[in-house]
Amino acid sequence: MVALTKRKQDEFQAFYTNCSYITSYMVSLLRCQGNVSILEPCAGDGAFIEELKAINNTPNITAYELNSDSVNILQSKYSDISSIKIKQEDFLLPFQLNFNKFDRVIGNPPYGAYQSPAKRKQLKNEYPQLYAKETYGLFLVKAMESLKKGGRLVFIVPDTYLTLHMHEGLRKELLQHYEIELIVLFPSNFFPGVNFGYAGLSIISIVNKVPNKTYSFPAYNGLSTSKQLLDLLTEKRKKYEICRLTYSQLSKNPSSAFLLSSKDWINSALSTNNLKVGNICSVVTGFYSGNDGKYLRRSKSVTRGIKKYALINTDDICNDDLSITPPLDGLNISSCWVPIVKGGNKKFYKNSEWFMNWSKEALYDYKVTNKKRARFQNPQYYFHQGIGVPMVSSSSITGSLIDGRLFDQSIVGIFPKKKYEYLTYFFLGLFNSNVCNALIRTINASTNNSANYIKKIPVIMPNKIMLNQISNEVRRILILAKKRNVGNDDLVTLNEYYNKIYGSTNT
Ligand SMILES: C[S@@+](CC[C@H](N)C(=O)[O-])C[C@H]1O[C@@H](n2cnc3c(N)ncnc32)[C@H](O)[C@@H]1O
Repeated sequence: MVALTKRKQDEFQAFYTNCSYITSYMVSLLRCQGNVSILEPCAGDGAFIEELKAINNTPNITAYELNSDSVNILQSKYSDISSIKIKQEDFLLPFQLNFNKFDRVIGNPPYGAYQSPAKRKQLKNEYPQLYAKETYGLFLVKAMESLKKGGRLVFIVPDTYLTLHMHEGLRKELLQHYEIELIVLFPSNFFPGVNFGYAGLSIISIVNKVPNKTYSFPAYNGLSTSKQLLDLLTEKRKKYEICRLTYSQLSKNPSSAFLLSSKDWINSALSTNNLKVGNICSVVTGFYSGNDGKYLRRSKSVTRGIKKYALINTDDICNDDLSITPPLDGLNISSCWVPIVKGGNKKFYKNSEWFMNWSKEALYDYKVTNKKRARFQNPQYYFHQGIGVPMVSSSSITGSLIDGRLFDQSIVGIFPKKKYEYLTYFFLGLFNSNVCNALIRTINASTNNSANYIKKIPVIMPNKIMLNQISNEVRRILILAKKRNVGNDDLVTLNEYYNKIYGSTNT
């Protein structure tokens, strides 16, 4: 039978859980035998309440909801069931010290719903360790605090809590005070019509019990339809178990990230006390003029943005080696347009196709007149040697040589510290390798390569012979990259080198 599906969304971030397989699985996980008290902190039009009613005609439920349309629906559905109490109140406010505790909590909280600046400030004060911009984390923690000892909570939330840097506080809260029973990951389109793109969804089941360090729990992934959630209630669950996560290990991971890898080499590289990119390189974001339409020009080879960006006159390009004395106060010459490395996924080398106005007047604008919009950030790295990794990957991570040019804000610049400059080509190869892609996608499952994630990539030092082999291979590929796009076939030998260093047999 096809699951009944319907989705509504409004300013309350109301993605209603109108998928019977999801509600049925979550209510099964809740284990509601006997007359347990249940909290629904953000009830919508009652998807979970309906499912709970199906197993017990008069469930003992307290439901919060802010939106008056939804409250009206809830009241019309449940006003004659005295054991279901509807509260038109903000679940996150006020902070009562002795609020009621419940045996069970079930919910699908709003993801990133709007909060007034005053409310956000209040929430930040109350939960300084949490990411107050993202409402689901706040709902989760407040709902966990509403549990009686031994009580159980089941939530459906985006999977960003697993690795997102900003959710470190939430992960620590879980690891210190609660036992996670299981987590399930699946695509956001299990809610028909929804496709977040930036994240998948996750069901998490939690018990209010102080865990010991050896505690572990399973993570399930690989479901292709929402109906398969019901398999997880049977012995078939084994085939979806991708790993067990141990609390002692999770606490040791960088920012206590929940790294879900079934590959031993990845777990070992991430958990051993290896150096990290952030220990031996400066990892920084680049420049923005504040008005690229005015200050950025393109070469003839660029075919996109033709209307927005004027063509560069080749006489205006500064061809000097700017790495010798980086002109951080601008250039006093007529050829004052400097090459800038921009985003876009291209391996190893991007030929200079974009040019930024670097006259003294333009710099005055970036630094003074238009300083609110412009980003004259990390200038000590402009015109240096380093590797540029676009903030967002397409299919896999790519890195290209900055080569003494400016780099823009959509790029993370990786600059080996003085003592490690001899590793520049090693890093250039690494950031284009399968090994690096597998590591960063474990550190952060989205396609985001922001500086915080890049810093956490473990560096296993090659021996001298291997370093030489890699540097020579990277030199060969660099020559290719200046002529044409580098493809996977060009990278076979290089990938083998990194596989060997990181102990990866199959990436
Ligand atoms: C993602 S929807 C889920 C609704 C329902 N639990 C379901 O699964 O179908 C989140 C609901 O939370 C409500 N909401 C948003 N902020 C709230 C708050 N601060 N307190 C209580 N409810 C809130 C929204 O109006 C919306 O109905």
